[in-house]
Amino acid sequence: MNRHTRPLELPQGERGRFTLDPMTSPTLPSRYYTDEAIYRAEMRQIHRKSWCYVGHVCDVAEPGMYFTDVVGEQPMLVVKGHDGEIRAFFNVCQHRGHELLQGRGQLKTKGISCPYHAWLYRLDGALAAAPMTEHLKSFDKSQYALKPIAIGIAAGLIFVNLDPKAAPFSEEMGGFGENIEAFLPEVASWVVAERLQYDIKANWKVVVDNFSEAYHIPIAHPQLSRVLEQEMMEFVERPRWTFNRFKSKEGFPGLELTPGSPYYAWQAWPHLCMLSLPGSDNLVVLRMAPDGVTKCAERVDIYTPAGDATKDPKMLAVRDLFMHMFNIEDISIVESVQRGLQSMGFDQGRYVCDEGNSWFSEIQLHWLHWQVLEALAGEDA
Ligand code: FES
Ligand SMILES: [Fe+2]
Repeated sequence: MNRHTRPLELPQGERGRFTLDPMTSPTLPSRYYTDEAIYRAEMRQIHRKSWCYVGHVCDVAEPGMYFTDVVGEQPMLVVKGHDGEIRAFFNVCQHRGHELLQGRGQLKTKGISCPYHAWLYRLDGALAAAPMTEHLKSFDKSQYALKPIAIGIAAGLIFVNLDPKAAPFSEEMGGFGENIEAFLPEVASWVVAERLQYDIKANWKVVVDNFSEAYHIPIAHPQLSRVLEQEMMEFVERPRWTFNRFKSKEGFPGLELTPGSPYYAWQAWPHLCMLSLPGSDNLVVLRMAPDGVTKCAERVDIYTPAGDATKDPKMLAVRDLFMHMFNIEDISIVESVQRGLQSMGFDQGRYVCDEGNSWFSEIQLHWLHWQVLEALAGEDA
């Protein structure tokens, strides 16, 4: 666990100071979920400095395929070059700053053409053509390439990091791809079955917090509880990611589970949450992108071997279980918690943990909050 690496000024709230020991610590003071200045610091220190999930290699399967996204409030794009290399760039033209691409798809031109004055970029980012610039003095096209963004790929999942000084992906996320592929060995060859977007009225951390504990599952997700055994089979913890393995019960309609079928859950700093539900091959990837201090743009990408969810009844059952039950239940919960965090009647609570880190423990919640504090401390470092 990435603790004790640097002495921190730990925040004080109405019930005391946040501590390194989850058994004694009060939770993060509510201002961490409501304060604009803290949100801006998170943007600088977390979202623009961390390895953030943006998609899967299936999204850029062929040369010229691209997708755009927003990471740390910065428009960016990912494109596959004619040399087969997948690259990421800030999605901004170096002439006068127009955005270059929108959405996702296959380029119809040989390069990336700016819609404003038609500067043309090669897929490696080099400026290939800039109309009517022949007469300019001291204009060197090689100085106007697209600004690159660091990229890392694990188990077919694409991550980017906006920080030119970022620690290498292999270092920060070491073992993550291997861990996923140990359980889902073909996942890098899977394709998108469903891509969903939810605009949630809650700070991004409230949504990640909720994913990081199973304490609420029997109460808030009665139908999911019928599928899952309340026992953790395996827990793996690395500085930037964690993995939990549970097992299923039988009997959820449509899933036709063999008792003991595995259910996997991964969490990666800062806002990637993934699960693989029992009963079919699937990876459900949730990304809780911040969209203002009290709003979160949750994107859900479901990957499967066959892609089309509508053709596979088991996949439909997984999708319905996820979408119509427990994600809807969770959205209602987190929006309520956000309203509560804004209430004058709440500042801090407690992490509910035990020494054995049993299935209901909120230890990962504390892990997440510790990383937030450590990242924010970098502001003064
Ligand atoms: S802003 Fe892109 S070509 Fe002018
Ligand atoms: Fe939940």
